[in-house]
Amino acid sequence: MRATFDIVALGEAMVEFNHAGPRDSRTYMQGFGGDTSNAIIAAARQGARCAYLTRLGDDEFGRMCLYLLRTERVDTSGVVIDPSAPTGLYFVHHGPAGHAFAYRRTGSAASRMQPADLPVALLERATWLHVSGISQAISASAARTVREAIRVARQAGTKVSYDPNLRLKLWPLERARGVILATLALCDLFLPSLDDVRQLAGIDDPEGIVDWCHRMGAPHVVLKLGSQGCLVSAGGQLTAVAPFPVDAVDATGAGDCFDGTYLARLVAGDDAVSAARWAAVAAALATTGQGAVAPLPGVQAVWNALTGRDRASGPPS
Ligand SMILES: Nc1ncnc2c1ncn2[C@@H]1O[C@H](COP(=O)(O)OP(=O)(O)O)[C@@H](O)[C@H]1O
Ligand SMILES: [Mg+2]
Repeated sequence: MRATFDIVALGEAMVEFNHAGPRDSRTYMQGFGGDTSNAIIAAARQGARCAYLTRLGDDEFGRMCLYLLRTERVDTSGVVIDPSAPTGLYFVHHGPAGHAFAYRRTGSAASRMQPADLPVALLERATWLHVSGISQAISASAARTVREAIRVARQAGTKVSYDPNLRLKLWPLERARGVILATLALCDLFLPSLDDVRQLAGIDDPEGIVDWCHRMGAPHVVLKLGSQGCLVSAGGQLTAVAPFPVDAVDATGAGDCFDGTYLARLVAGDDAVSAARWAAVAAALATTGQGAVAPLPGVQAVWNALTGRDRASGPPS
């Protein structure tokens, strides 16, 4: 029987306020962010049938996140509205050393996620579950929720995709390492970036890192290398996928875009290397605009970039 959803992601969606203009400007551009929510929107824009699981506050910001997900054709039937905790927010400020993030997510509705929130039947009807280290780092109950979602998924034959997205502002390295290694051993697909695993494994060389991920139990690994592209290791084959050249202005969410797009292409029938080539183009395009969600490309934009066309033309069959 065909699954109802191609990809179900679990984590925290937040409202973003991105400071715009000169240093003394009082203007903020409002957007959205959150690693797994960026990934699920990227996947939906690539045509995958998607659902998102989280908790949102019963406030205007929660309603904005819900509206965004629905507008992007992401199913929200598994979103819980929490009457007594706020939706998370973050601010982006730009300085000489690049941009800095300030989060207002402590005690957020998403950090109160709990295993009983999980829509078990929905998870059982998905091809992939996508979770991240951030989904686990925001609170102990969120970490338990991720663990339970993975248990339900594995029991039902739903494959598990995992991006460690290590953020040491959220949890100390030793605790993060324990949780991430335990999760890595349960996933079907591991999607780290170089900085994440460098710190976890204490290894610098990308091929050595991929070997380490396999030794730790991940059967299929894509190591994201920023402007250097990525390494794909599946079925005993290691392939370097070149970056798609762009003038990057803001790399926020590039890795999340890669994750969602890669999963969408696997579901569409691509092999690992073809999916990675497509995802590398999508992620590169996502760096050419400001913010995490606005520049996530659709199928047509990736196709046009791949074929060198800048005007709408037929998408791939
Ligand atoms: N400057 C860039 N030019 C081209 N592609 C990029 C650039 N930055 C990121 N990418 C693409 O996005 C993917 C994810 O970016 P990366 O920075 O490695 O992840 P994360 O955002 O998780 O740290 C890379 O594997 C690459 O394919
Ligand atoms: Mg990342």
